[in-house]
Amino acid sequence: MAVKLESRVAELVEPFAGRPSELIQALHRVQEELGYIPEEAQRTVAAALRVPLSQVHGVVTFYHFFRTEPVGRHIIRLCLGTACYVRGAARVLQALREELGVDLGGTSADGLFTLEGVRCLGACGLAPVMMVDGEVYGRLTPRRAREILSRYRDE
Ligand code: FES
Repeated sequence: MAVKLESRVAELVEPFAGRPSELIQALHRVQEELGYIPEEAQRTVAAALRVPLSQVHGVVTFYHFFRTEPVGRHIIRLCLGTACYVRGAARVLQALREELGVDLGGTSADGLFTLEGVRCLGACGLAPVMMVDGEVYGRLTPRRAREILSRYRDE
């Protein structure tokens, strides 16, 4: 399994081999294909681009868009910005945590959902708001959030 992953990643970053200045592009490539960048993949990238592993690790952990854990089939982005917060985002968050059995940043055991918190989705007038994949859902209540999840489960 690890060997397979290693050779897949090596293939992906081949065009960036020996080019440390293209580290971010190489990491994007890996994430686009795998959905995340696990430790073994970081090692392969470091070796291919000839940069220290600590630098690869530093970049992956510094930028929020890089992930080190696999993600669910659907990504839920719950807005925790001020407008959403004052309109009950905390209660919605609690409902989602209970429903999915995970905290922010986690993926449900069935692999269906990853739960993330974001600052503002630009739809403050609909607060509280969450986005599932590309779809925006506003005026959420804990109950409505649960109903939305069950729609995705039934798909
Ligand atoms: S604060 Fe939630 S959408 Fe803007």
